Amino acid sequence: MVIAVDGPAASGKGTIARALARHYGLPHLDTGKLYRATGLMMRLAGQPPEDTAAATQAAEHLDPALLDAPDLMSSENARYASIVSAHPGVRAALLARQQRFAGQPGGAVLDGRDIGTIICPGAAAKLFVTARPEVRAGRRHRELAGNGDSRSLAEVLADIEARDARDSQRAAAPLLRAPDAALLDTSDLGIDAAVGQAIRLVEEALARRGQHSA
Ligand code: C5P
Repeated sequence: MVIAVDGPAASGKGTIARALARHYGLPHLDTGKLYRATGLMMRLAGQPPEDTAAATQAAEHLDPALLDAPDLMSSENARYASIVSAHPGVRAALLARQQRFAGQPGGAVLDGRDIGTIICPGAAAKLFVTARPEVRAGRRHRELAGNGDSRSLAEVLADIEARDARDSQRAAAPLLRAPDAALLDTSDLGIDAAVGQAIRLVEEALARRGQHSA
């Protein structure tokens, strides 16, 4: 049973994907970390993220140790991730790794931008999680402030909007709601309510496919 969770930055998709994984007893992959680790490799090597050949090489030889690097989740690294992720070569290099994870016996939960459209188009359940940009910026601002990042709310909102635009407008695997993905807007929901709705939507998708839930 594969559950695909897609959506823009700070929509709540990571929290929801982790909760779904716990609920159904499935392994979880935050695919954004793969793009962030590729971006971090470029930063550490002093290479611009626009360099297609170098970014593709970095993704092909991804250093797994970087997936736990302290700087992985910083806003500067998110910017690198969103630029390197537009290179088709980078996406191709990371595709098999994600599909292998999804193909584990029993299934998996993956969250990202193109899970329901490209990585796992046959997923048993697909969610597209979103929230208003101001709400997402507020969440990310609180998270960054907790990590000692002094960026203002206005700067965080501008970062998020720039990333949304890059992720949605790129030619390779743009951020897109799959036609069969259920929409979940978390703008006015707390975590428990959002997770509750996500479980309900997954149950509905499984019921439509005649699959049994846990
Ligand atoms: O999800 P997260 O914000 O950590 O992702 C960082 C960046 O990685 C995104 O802005 C996006 O450009 C890229 N990404 C992607 N496809 C995915 C996951 C993330 O292009 N499946």
